[in-house]
Amino acid sequence: MQPVGLIDGEIIAIDAKVVSMEDRGHQFGDGVYEVTRVYNGKCFALNEHMDRLYRSLRELKIPAVYTFSELAGFHERLIEESGILEGGVYLQITRGTAPRAHGFPEVTVPQLTMSIRPLGTGGALNEVRKNGCKVLTVKDERWLRCDIKSLNLLGNILAKQQAKEAGCFEAILVRDGMLTEGSSSNFFIIRDGVLWTHPVNNLILKGVTRTLIVEKIAPELGIPVIEKPFSSETAKTADEAFLSGTTTEIAPVVIVDGNPVGEGKVGPFTLQLQQAYQQMIDKECGR
Ligand code: PDD
Repeated sequence: MQPVGLIDGEIIAIDAKVVSMEDRGHQFGDGVYEVTRVYNGKCFALNEHMDRLYRSLRELKIPAVYTFSELAGFHERLIEESGILEGGVYLQITRGTAPRAHGFPEVTVPQLTMSIRPLGTGGALNEVRKNGCKVLTVKDERWLRCDIKSLNLLGNILAKQQAKEAGCFEAILVRDGMLTEGSSSNFFIIRDGVLWTHPVNNLILKGVTRTLIVEKIAPELGIPVIEKPFSSETAKTADEAFLSGTTTEIAPVVIVDGNPVGEGKVGPFTLQLQQAYQQMIDKECGR
């Protein structure tokens, strides 16, 4: 079991030096990415991740040069070559290599690189999922196309670091007084039995995990969902809160800015959603 990489369909060592100096991803962050979770040697929600990848490419006018079945095959090859059963696949596509100039090059071929790494079942993340985490609200200083899963993540990185330095697991971003999402996750609250989350627009990433919760899990559990922006003040009156994401899965939030959420412990709705999410994984990946 070891991490491996892939470039344009060829397996390579994870630390191979393969990217050109003038790759536009390297110079401008001109590209898109996806992270897909592998459970029991199978990709979870791959269709949904690849659909979003194609959307991100379209939004940035980067030509799609690989079909879905090719990309699915590359995921399988990485799993096979690495022997990793529990892990995450990182995929990025840049606009390609060209002499540095801001405008799109006339001629260039998009560059695909991928890698797989193990994601253990133990560790800090597991502890967070079980006992919940602390979050810090941070000013959302990102650009206005957060719906594109682009390589430009400085706003996200700076927010996450601020949270980390405050001893928190995640930064919840605040724009115009409203909580948008986490720096690398979506954010939900539960108030009086209703699930609240920011609506899908240019201010958040439409998380695959978020979509599964909003469109499948919550309706099946009979939990009403309201997709509407809410403020820190509203969040303070929540009974429960949680983060969602591919690697985060569903992680309870028990403290926001030093204040306990509800009773300051993992609540029954979050627990129910976590269990249903786990069942969905088991069904799709056969664990
Ligand atoms: N992050 N919002 C942001 C800003 C994210 O970066 C992510 C995922 C999500 C959740 O999306 P999904 O449920 O599709 O993973 C929401 C990935 C995992 C990352 O950057 O590593």
